[in-house]
Amino acid sequence: MKGLFITLEGGDGAGKSTQIRNIERFFTEKGLVVVHTREPGGTQISEKLRDILLDSHNTEMTAVTEMMIYAASRAQHVRELIIPALERGEVVICDRFVDSSVAYQAYGRGLGDMVAEVNRHATGGLRPDITFWLDIDPAAGRARAAKAGELDRLELEKLDFHYRVYEGYKKIAEAEPDRVKRINAADTVEEICSSIYACLEELCAEKGI
Ligand code: TYD
Repeated sequence: MKGLFITLEGGDGAGKSTQIRNIERFFTEKGLVVVHTREPGGTQISEKLRDILLDSHNTEMTAVTEMMIYAASRAQHVRELIIPALERGEVVICDRFVDSSVAYQAYGRGLGDMVAEVNRHATGGLRPDITFWLDIDPAAGRARAAKAGELDRLELEKLDFHYRVYEGYKKIAEAEPDRVKRINAADTVEEICSSIYACLEELCAEKGI
C-alpha cells in the first residue's frame, strides 16, 4: 500500500490529541493528504459501537463481549476507512489501534492470547508503519484525565487495572522496538513534539517521502 499508517497509544491523559495535531501538521506541510481518525470509532457503525463501549451505564458487559466489540468496530474501520485511504496514498493517523486491545483487554482484563488472535481477523493483518506510545504513569494520567472531564467506563476502572494496561504497553514496546517508539509523556509538549518529528523524519527518509 502506498500511504502511511501511524498510530498513537497511551494511557488516559497522556496528551495524545495535541501530538496528533502536530503529526498532522508535519505531513500537511509536506503536501500530503492526512486522514485523522480514532478507535473505537472512525466510521458511522464504529462510532455506534464506541457509544456502547464507553457508556458508563454498561456495567454488566463481560470482558469477552468488550474485546469483541472493540474488534468489530476495528474490522469495519479498517475496511471502510483506513485501507481505502492508504490505497489512495494518504497518511492515516489513528488515535489508538490494536495495541490498545492488547494492553486493555489482553493485559488489563486478563484475556491473554485470544485478543491478538481475534484482532488478526479484525485487521486482516494490517499493521501500523509506526506507533508512538506516550508513556505516562497511570496515576498521573488518571489525574489529568479526571481534570479534563467526566470519566468513561474504561477510565473509571480501578488503578490496578490501569497498571496492568501499562505493563501491557511496556511488553508491546519491548517486543517491537522498530515499530513502537516510546515517548516520555512527562516531557514538555515541545520536547515530545521534537522527539516525534525526529522519528517521522527517519520514517520518511526510509520510505522516500
Ligand atoms: P477515548 O475517549 O478515545 O480515550 P482516550 O482519549 O484516552 O484515547 O476512549 C477510548 C477508551 O477505550 C480508552 O479508555 C481505551 C479503551 N480502549 C480499549 O480498551 N481497547 C481498545 O481496543 C481501544 C481502541 C480502546
